[in-house]
Amino acid sequence: MSTEQEEQIHPQDRVTRYVVRTLMGLEPQVVAELEEHGAVDVEPGRRSATFGATKAVLYRYLHCTRFAVRVLRPVFEFKAKGPDALYAAAVKLDWGLWVDPRRSMALDVTVNSDEFPHDQFAMFRLKDAMSDHFKSFGRGGAVHHLDINRMSPEQLIHLHIAGEQVTISLDLIGKEALFKRGYRAPRARAPLNEVLTAGLLGLAGWRPGETLIDPMCGSGTFAIEAGLWTAGVPIHAGRRDWTLFGMASFDGDLWREVGEAARQERIERAPILASDWNKHPVEDARESVRTAGLEHLVRVEVADFLEMRPPRDTEPGLVVLNPPYGQRVHADDLEHLYGGIGGALKHRWSGWRAALLFPKDLEAHHRIGLKPTVKHTVMNGPLTCTWAVYDLFKGKRADHLSGGEQAEADAPSAGSEAAQSAAGSDEGQTVRFRRPRVQVPKEED
Ligand SMILES: C[S@@+](CC[C@H](N)C(=O)[O-])C[C@H]1O[C@@H](n2cnc3c(N)ncnc32)[C@H](O)[C@@H]1O
Repeated sequence: MSTEQEEQIHPQDRVTRYVVRTLMGLEPQVVAELEEHGAVDVEPGRRSATFGATKAVLYRYLHCTRFAVRVLRPVFEFKAKGPDALYAAAVKLDWGLWVDPRRSMALDVTVNSDEFPHDQFAMFRLKDAMSDHFKSFGRGGAVHHLDINRMSPEQLIHLHIAGEQVTISLDLIGKEALFKRGYRAPRARAPLNEVLTAGLLGLAGWRPGETLIDPMCGSGTFAIEAGLWTAGVPIHAGRRDWTLFGMASFDGDLWREVGEAARQERIERAPILASDWNKHPVEDARESVRTAGLEHLVRVEVADFLEMRPPRDTEPGLVVLNPPYGQRVHADDLEHLYGGIGGALKHRWSGWRAALLFPKDLEAHHRIGLKPTVKHTVMNGPLTCTWAVYDLFKGKRADHLSGGEQAEADAPSAGSEAAQSAAGSDEGQTVRFRRPRVQVPKEED
């Protein structure tokens, strides 16, 4: 494009490239979400995607994104062989275009390079380069001391090094990543990451309007993410501390206008139910539902999943399960618990879909005794996990796949102890599944 043509483009129509960071396994959803909001030239990467956007598209995306953890604006790219070369190149950059040396800042680094054996040293050299640059070239006078503030910086600078390729980016989000949605009750124990939870709902094919039940809800993350999705609320509208706000290019009027337009209340009622057998997480989940303003959409109850029956007043939908698996639960009890879950799904929830999250190497998951239609690999914190999605049909799988109308009587998969204990039972009759001999401690899991 010629300079003449560039000058004709109104600043609001100019397309700039950004990087979105996400969690492993959610890249395709990030791409779809970006395209839905009007981003162009979207390219997926590893736990990331790059995209082009006008300011309005970027602002809308920042208000609404469910799957982004951070969004960055790359400002300098160059090659450097080692920390001294990084310093030499960085000290000459026009930092004043992007960074205000009088406002507090923090630096963050990701290095994947043999040329830079120590991440932190690379970051210190970058800080030295910025500091020396502003001593000589500070706009409006030299600045002799940079205010580095890791706790609540007004500006966040990311240094990314891959081989010799150095990219310096500005973070648009702020100290708190986008999975901090602001609804979480402070007492919540081992909750799922909110971005991961929204991603899991998407991967299971759930969309607003479909019935959702989370019968082992803990702090209620699945139900709340589903409720926010259903409500059509711009999920980050309440966030106040965007680093974007301090940038010279920030357009406050456009930000407010886009925020208002993104607010589209969709559905007044939704079949979203969360339950747990422990009343303490139920209280936490209720508090979070209130904080999120979702009391009209999400119901939270105390119930034992192994005793539960599908509600009669809604269409069948998706049951999501994030059962306990931690070190606090004895291996035998896990076998019984997972067997019980498989038996309950098979015998009580036919006609529904189910999705189950468990660590990839968890032996007990075989006790489910059902064949998933699709499996996804995701990271739950440091744990590699499987998100398995099941179609719960009545009768034999082969009949279901061939579309056989007259399904045979329930036929639990071989090897599922709980399923065997329930075999021969009729739907509607109370089926008791074998429980853990020592119950999973209700306060501890
Ligand atoms: C790993 S936590 C779920 C965390 C949740 N996804 C969140 O984001 O907070 C597992 C939950 O399953 C519950 N649970 C275990 N066995 C249960 C059962 N038979 N019926 C209902 N809830 C059960 C536990 O009380 C615990 O809160």
